[in-house]
Amino acid sequence: MKVAIYAGTFDPITNGHIDILTKASKVFDKVILSVAKSTGKETIFSLEERCGLCEKSVAHNKKIEVMKFSGLVVDFAKKVNALIMIRGLRAVSDFEYELSLALMNKNLCDDLETVFFVPENKYLYLSSTMIREVVALGGDVSGFIPECVEKALKKKLKIED
Ligand code: COA
Repeated sequence: MKVAIYAGTFDPITNGHIDILTKASKVFDKVILSVAKSTGKETIFSLEERCGLCEKSVAHNKKIEVMKFSGLVVDFAKKVNALIMIRGLRAVSDFEYELSLALMNKNLCDDLETVFFVPENKYLYLSSTMIREVVALGGDVSGFIPECVEKALKKKLKIED
């Protein structure tokens, strides 16, 4: 069974992430949506909230499982017997960071291969930071995040529906 992990902070999960997960689930038997406890970033949603929103957002796809992790992503990959790490490669600006991440992870664990998927055009410049900012300022982000995420974000930011 080919198990892949897709790790990130997911603060919150966006349709861009879901697009990558959907693509990966067509190639691998199981994709573990791996929610990082802490990556040095201050998060707006708690770990439990981020996991809950991820679970709701991918519930329709039985090949995706949500798990949380802390520590090195390579150690988590070993724990769940994943030999593939999925990454989404958006704009050219992602490339250097992605290359260094992939090379460091390879250095830490020779068995783990990084596989890149290219997102749909409309998600090329999407990020969770941008979503948080636009919602906080009252902008419309429907089409970029699942409905449950939009609701949770508005509630968190105390914005009227
Ligand atoms: N669509 C939309 N947005 C995307 C995306 C996609 N396909 N892919 C990435 N993003 C966004 C994320 O939402 C995030 O946005 P934000 O910074 O505005 O919140 C941004 O791009 C960066 O995402 P990502 O590269 O996944 O970073 P991350 O901080 O969410 O997660 C980890 C990075 C968890 C994978 C990495 O830090 C890690 O592995 N940490 C564990 C510790 C470790 O092993 N460190 C050593 C690594 S060598």
